[in-house]
Amino acid sequence: MPEPPHRRRAHARSSDLERYAGLFAQRTQVMRSSAMRDLMAITARPDVISLAGGLPDTSTFPPKAFAAQMTRIAQESAAEALQYGPTEGFRETVDCIIEVMGAEGMLPDPDDVIVTTGGQQAIDLICKALVDPGDAVICEAPTYPGAIPVFCSYQADTIQIECDGAGMRIDELEATLERLDEEGRRPKFVYSVPTFQNPAGVTMSLERRQRLVELARSRELLVVEDNPYGLLRFGGDALPPLYQLDGGDFVIYVGTLSKILSPGIRLGWAVAPPPVMEKVVLGKQAADLCTSTLTQYFVREYFGEGSWRQYIESLIGIYRSRRDAMVEALERYFPAQATWTEPDGGLFIWATLPPYIDTSDLLAKALRENVAFVPGQAAYVDGRGRNSMRLNFSSGSEDEIREGIRRIGKTIAGQVELYSALTGQELEVPASPERQKSVETENVLPFRKTGEGGA
Ligand SMILES: Cc1ncc(COP(=O)(O)O)c(C=O)c1O
Repeated sequence: MPEPPHRRRAHARSSDLERYAGLFAQRTQVMRSSAMRDLMAITARPDVISLAGGLPDTSTFPPKAFAAQMTRIAQESAAEALQYGPTEGFRETVDCIIEVMGAEGMLPDPDDVIVTTGGQQAIDLICKALVDPGDAVICEAPTYPGAIPVFCSYQADTIQIECDGAGMRIDELEATLERLDEEGRRPKFVYSVPTFQNPAGVTMSLERRQRLVELARSRELLVVEDNPYGLLRFGGDALPPLYQLDGGDFVIYVGTLSKILSPGIRLGWAVAPPPVMEKVVLGKQAADLCTSTLTQYFVREYFGEGSWRQYIESLIGIYRSRRDAMVEALERYFPAQATWTEPDGGLFIWATLPPYIDTSDLLAKALRENVAFVPGQAAYVDGRGRNSMRLNFSSGSEDEIREGIRRIGKTIAGQVELYSALTGQELEVPASPERQKSVETENVLPFRKTGEGGA
């Protein structure tokens, strides 16, 4: 019996690759896959505890409310909700976005806002508007792993500035800007996730925020502030977003409803000064004409009910407990030489292991224990981050988090024991009680201690 045609195609795929090689655009040579996307096929298996994704817990959204909202749309606006919409998004969606930004003290002009297909598309469109091959783009080290494939696909020269417990090192940024000046290069923008950063969980201090905005204004340097997590604060005082400090002249803002409502609806946005916005709109027209109209109708319904802030409060309660569960498990199961961040919000903890452990190798071993995390290298363009990992605490239950960390700890212990046997050094596995106390009191960070190195 002949094979079905799709199966024949699948067999031919790898051997046929050369046939297409001459057709690929140059940019495909530097395109990179997102580590999280690669892991998704494995982590979707029910027996795997995934601490790898950046998934919010959508099971907390009440299905009855969802059904009622979608039913109202079907009954009252079916034809409009199933139609194309304006490229910039509906004004009613923009009003919801302005409400969300208002909750963090920002008041953008509605004409400066474009609704996008997730924050990810906003990053892509900003690059499309600004970046030519070889242009310098500056970001944090580590940076949002999903931004790296975007910078790569526009063939940017991505320069990473080290982070510590107070966010991006602005002194290092200034030195880099001076070096670029000497080379006659003007960076297209500085990309930052200043609040509860993905992947490190750190928050940029007020002093550094002010200095960054001063630099942007004095140098006419664009800053892209990506802020999916600002409203997911479990502790500490809120800091003003860069956009608020700048007023929107040099800070382009990227937001999303993915982490405070749903990533499945794919609704994000960008706020940019009119000349930049004009190009971003052109880029979006070419990319997808408009963001899903159905999604925008859902968002309008949802915000119309007026309880969106209560939903975020409920998420905060859940995520705070999960962060606590993860920190406790790390103290219990990770080796004495490990350090990690203890974020006041967001979805991620960044752990750094002894330098002899490569977390990409470790992941292969951890997957055998049915647990996954994102290896630190995914957050760097240059191979740094080898002994670090990103751990997500939002998507699993507290029990799953504890079990996931226990399994990773067990895998690490195997590596530590091996190293110990090879080098003859005696190493503690897991952490000693004294060491646990020092983690609690000194707030040890994986990079440098808080505040070190000034702004
Ligand atoms: C910093 C950051 N920016 C952008 C995104 C993309 O989010 P979305 O496209 O779902 O809005 C994410 C998702 O994890 C993120 O962490």
